[in-house]
Amino acid sequence: MPLWSVTGGKELKGSLEIQGSKNAVLPILAASVVGGGVSRITQSPMLRDVDASLEILRHLGCGVMQNRGEILIQSDGMDQNRIPHALMLKMRSSVMYLGAILARCGEVRLSAPGGCELGSRPIDLHLKALKALGAEISESGGEVCCRAKKLTGAHINLDFPSVGATENVMLAACAAEGTTVLTNAAREPEIADLQRFLNAKGASIRGAGSPEIRIDGFSPKPYTEHSVLPDRIAAATYLCAAAAAGGDVRLTRVIPEHVETVLTALRQMGCAIVVDQDGIRLRRDGPMHAARPVITRPYPGFPTDAQALLMAASLRAEGTSVFVENIFESRFRHVPEMRRLGADVRTEGRVAMVCGVKTLLGAPVTATDLRGGAAMVLAGLSAEGETRVFDSGHIERGYERFDECLGAFGAEVKRLEAPQE
Ligand code: EPZ
Repeated sequence: MPLWSVTGGKELKGSLEIQGSKNAVLPILAASVVGGGVSRITQSPMLRDVDASLEILRHLGCGVMQNRGEILIQSDGMDQNRIPHALMLKMRSSVMYLGAILARCGEVRLSAPGGCELGSRPIDLHLKALKALGAEISESGGEVCCRAKKLTGAHINLDFPSVGATENVMLAACAAEGTTVLTNAAREPEIADLQRFLNAKGASIRGAGSPEIRIDGFSPKPYTEHSVLPDRIAAATYLCAAAAAGGDVRLTRVIPEHVETVLTALRQMGCAIVVDQDGIRLRRDGPMHAARPVITRPYPGFPTDAQALLMAASLRAEGTSVFVENIFESRFRHVPEMRRLGADVRTEGRVAMVCGVKTLLGAPVTATDLRGGAAMVLAGLSAEGETRVFDSGHIERGYERFDECLGAFGAEVKRLEAPQE
């Protein structure tokens, strides 16, 4: 079990190239089974969630080769349509195989996915949408079975712009006869990256990034290449790290537009930010001011995945910052851990109030989930002394070489192994 030792009080300086996007590569790995063939994926982040998805692909009978950020998948040999519970539990994105395997095989069996505990996280919108395409859905023994002799294009309106449900419709509708029109679709940049991959693979999809996506069938291509989008949440993490600790950092291989809302918040808090063709530069040498109300919303609103990260940067800011978490019902599990460092954070339902304090003191804390865990490392960077973040493996699900990347800015972060009890 990793233990992150963070020694705070040091300003950050330096430059870092941003990893490939976890939330883009995971649906793309599932999509590699649609229509068979060979897929070569580059700029893939090296993460525990990627390993879990490759394990699923091997279980399904696909050939998988990996050389660091380059992955080759041969899915012609796929001979399974069921994913065992243990593999499903490893990450939320295993649910992407629902639409992908249904499109490939006409039948799929899997159990409810795992992933960060951010609330109930049902898949009702996914199932409702697949039913609209003509799938029969049955549930027994904790397993969902989706079966369709034939999928037929339909107009599907999502009750909520769910990222996962949008991606599953795009995957399943590739095998549907006729046109599928998906409205109130999620608009996250990862959706557009999935559209790019599927179109390169032989699909005809347009509209990703807008609330309306049209899917018009699929003529499979034997070979597909795709370079994964940079990770906007990883970029937000390193920007918030520099804001929390102070300093002068530059991020490269990043798409500024994708982190616009985070940049706006950090500018309002007193960071000097320059965006140019090479990337983003952030300097913070004066005091931080409290954040204006931070209200999480679906893209292009402020991302829920950056809520804990910006909160970590606001703990020593002058004044009171307010956070409203609209996407997940329990995404403040990092708050009690922040209080252990001496932070003054109060919560009431989906609202958190952060009263800036002068000093934070290092202490042993726990990583409660992926972004909450990263936020505790960031809080440790702005605390005096050592903070030890006990982590049951959350952080490495989404961050590649987290200690080395922060080390590129001169941060004192070590990845240790927690002593066995
Ligand atoms: C994706 O999760 C991301 N994960 C999450 O990032 C991110 O927080 C989330 O989108 C929102 O931006 C990946 O892309 C792998 P949703 P997803 O379906 O698809 C409710 C991270 O830290 N809902 O948009 O699971 C749901 O409970 C992770 O990288 C239903 O009620 O998110 C939630 O409250 C954490 N029924 C809301 O919608 C459904 O069928 C948004 O969920 C589906 C969702």
